[in-house]
Amino acid sequence: MELLKQKILREGRVENGDILKVDSFLNHQLDIELLNEIGKEFKKRFAEENINKILTIEASGIAIACITAQYFHVPVVFAKKTESRNLDKETYESNVYSYTKEKNYKIRVSKRYIDKRDNILILDDFLANGKALLGLKDIIEQANANLVGAGIVIEKGFQKGGDLLRNDGVRVDSLVIIDSLENGRIEFREQRN
Ligand code: G4P
Ligand code: NA
Ligand code: NA
Repeated sequence: MELLKQKILREGRVENGDILKVDSFLNHQLDIELLNEIGKEFKKRFAEENINKILTIEASGIAIACITAQYFHVPVVFAKKTESRNLDKETYESNVYSYTKEKNYKIRVSKRYIDKRDNILILDDFLANGKALLGLKDIIEQANANLVGAGIVIEKGFQKGGDLLRNDGVRVDSLVIIDSLENGRIEFREQRN
């Protein structure tokens, strides 16, 4: 997605050799007009699929999921990362390992909001090691729902997540794939779209 590439080149900053900071439009301040274009692009890519629900994970996935949902006319469900007394007792849970925090955490979705009739599109801002997405996939499987695919805004192609999910049979559609952040230079993979 050319518009997104240009935005990343203008405003993205490389930190610690392998982290792309995009706080000015995706992870802190939100560029709503760009997010609208991102939503339209996901709709275009998954137009043939009969999606009835979008699943994401708090926090950064929510904005993308909500804007995109307006083009699909479906509800958004977001998995919760923090335990809350107000969450339903009946939940699907999955353990996720975080490389950055070097520990496991649980993600949860109430059994009320996902079931076997659902045809689900997962959306997220970043795909790095893919553990969070595998957790969402696990929850979808527990619910006997159907996973249509995963729409990702920025895939870090030099980390394992994309391969892990694709080898698992998941359709992963990333708007941009970054092959390298070495020496502070952002290198995109050539893509058809
Ligand atoms: P992973 O297995 O899901 O890839 O997780 P990992 O622990 O490696 O990543 C931790 C968090 O950092 C995730 O957000 C992930 O989206 C984000 N992340 C990974 N690489 C980058 C990057 O290069 N740039 C930016 N901006 N983010 C990156 P999170 O902590 O789960 O959540 P959220 O609350 O921000 O959504
Ligand atoms: Na995220
Ligand atoms: Na994030």
